[in-house]
Amino acid sequence: MQIIKTKAELTALSAGWQKEGQSIGFVPTMGALHAGHLSLINALDGKAARRIVSIFVNPIQFNNSHDFQHYPRGLEDDAALLRNTGKVDVLYAPDESQMYLPGFATRISVAGLDSMLCGGDRPGHFDGVATVVTKLFLQTHANIAAFGEKDYQQLCLIKRMVQDLDLPLHILPVPTLREADGLALSSRNRRLTPEQRQQAALLPQALKTCLADMRAGTDVKNSLVTCRTALEKAGFHVHYLELRHEDTLAPAPVAGKGTRLFVAASLGDVRLIDNMPFA
Ligand code: PAJ
Repeated sequence: MQIIKTKAELTALSAGWQKEGQSIGFVPTMGALHAGHLSLINALDGKAARRIVSIFVNPIQFNNSHDFQHYPRGLEDDAALLRNTGKVDVLYAPDESQMYLPGFATRISVAGLDSMLCGGDRPGHFDGVATVVTKLFLQTHANIAAFGEKDYQQLCLIKRMVQDLDLPLHILPVPTLREADGLALSSRNRRLTPEQRQQAALLPQALKTCLADMRAGTDVKNSLVTCRTALEKAGFHVHYLELRHEDTLAPAPVAGKGTRLFVAASLGDVRLIDNMPFA
């Protein structure tokens, strides 16, 4: 596995692979890697001749400079994890000066999808994601890129953007990888105290119960109120809990195939997100 830090080096290599007809699979990340990230790499098995993983903690998608400064960084551990998979050709780890030249002024904005759910309390976040992901797609010459359903809204937004801008690559959705107790793997889980970590398992359990209520015929509104109350009783601060259509993310007043339950809830200052399909 090669570690590349400059845009010029990466682009020369990836353009060369393209010329030789070698397809390129790509997994963008912000590091602090865990098994969820590795499942994205595995999902590319048989789908690309070459694999690039990027690690870049993207300043323009943080609306809080404290969060940005305290985002976990450990390039050596991450590189070791990636090398051990035996599946990664290149780890691309540019620094900020490679990605954002002085005077950088462009943003890509996916209207509508960027202001709901997680966009509501994180203004500008998704513009930052869409912008950096587009840059990375262009730099890597990727033919296929894997994104986790864990960040379902991000996945929808990237799919929309690729379609709208005719970007020449395929987006591969990858199911959420969970711990044995159901908690979705996330770099943020390591910030939970042992007690909070135990409580956190109630989040996916609550989603399951809520979906079971809906399947049993309880209307959406009442199922959501019961679930929110249970989460609040368990010590969560609930930012949103909503049933939405999977493709458009429009609110779903009635549960059915193609709808999905979305939640963001905090334990202390750790904000967790999760989502599960109705069917
Ligand atoms: P990051 O949070 O590092 O996540 C990188 C990718 O890993 C995303 O596609 C995310 O959905 C996926 N992922 C995280 N936890 C997962 C889990 N438990 N199961 C499956 N996939 C999981 O998302 C970002 O970085 C950034 O916004 C980025 C796209 C890199 C742009 O900066």
